[in-house]
Amino acid sequence: MDTGMDERKRIEEAAQKVLETCGAADIGIILGSGLGEYAQALEEARRLPYSEIPGFPRSTVEGHAGMWCCGTLHGKRVAMMQGRFHYYEGYSMKDVTLPVRVMQKTGVKTLIVTNACGGINLGYRPGDLMVIGDVFSLTGQNPLIGENLEEFGPRFPDMSCAFDRELRALAHACAKELGMTLREGVYAQMTGPCYETPAEIRMLRVLGADAVGMSTVPEVIAARHGGMRVLGISCITNMAAGILDQPLNHAEVTQTANRVKDRFKNLLDVVIARM
Ligand code: HPA
Repeated sequence: MDTGMDERKRIEEAAQKVLETCGAADIGIILGSGLGEYAQALEEARRLPYSEIPGFPRSTVEGHAGMWCCGTLHGKRVAMMQGRFHYYEGYSMKDVTLPVRVMQKTGVKTLIVTNACGGINLGYRPGDLMVIGDVFSLTGQNPLIGENLEEFGPRFPDMSCAFDRELRALAHACAKELGMTLREGVYAQMTGPCYETPAEIRMLRVLGADAVGMSTVPEVIAARHGGMRVLGISCITNMAAGILDQPLNHAEVTQTANRVKDRFKNLLDVVIARM
């Protein structure tokens, strides 16, 4: 088991490298499946492959470039992660949340998390965008288990409003201005990597989920522990298992993410400009 000391050292070394190579940022963005392209919007970007960040896991998922990018966007210092780490890749929750810790160490105060997910709410359609209003996880895991890193945050952080109200309202205002439909709903995390069964999707619906995915919740927990403001935007890439009479596959997920990415980028761009 990692001790708090090991964890601190690991965060410190990774943060040091990121600071040296890419510099600090105020806003951090985790770009999910098929959304990595948005990093090209950064001005005067500096890029660092994850493989050059000490202690960093490798991104093993197709559609995740594995690059830390930092630059300026609408006059703000923004760090973007092209690709994240997932619990289903075999990484620990500490691995999954290491980048958020590094963001905190390098100045990030606001985190925007994005992801691709399956729609559970029957009013949703593939291609819809959804502001995450709240989350729950059925992974049975929590990245804060173990020694509390007091300098990062408290032992028992509040999660009663994990997603910042003002940022959510801002996202809706921006979507309206762009003439875009924007949902708001509850994101449920399962471990993956298999897609859910229809029975699991019915269960998740009863439990109050509007969408399901395999990421995001640990990152949000670490960010809230660190006192960051968090905004989450999901792309509904497919209807969840059993809703339509068709099998699920990763190609559909990346195809829909690809189809939606310009809309997604426009929304993010206006949100960041107004932040
Ligand atoms: N389930 C879980 N994760 C996902 C899905 C899904 O249907 N679509 C994209 N990520």
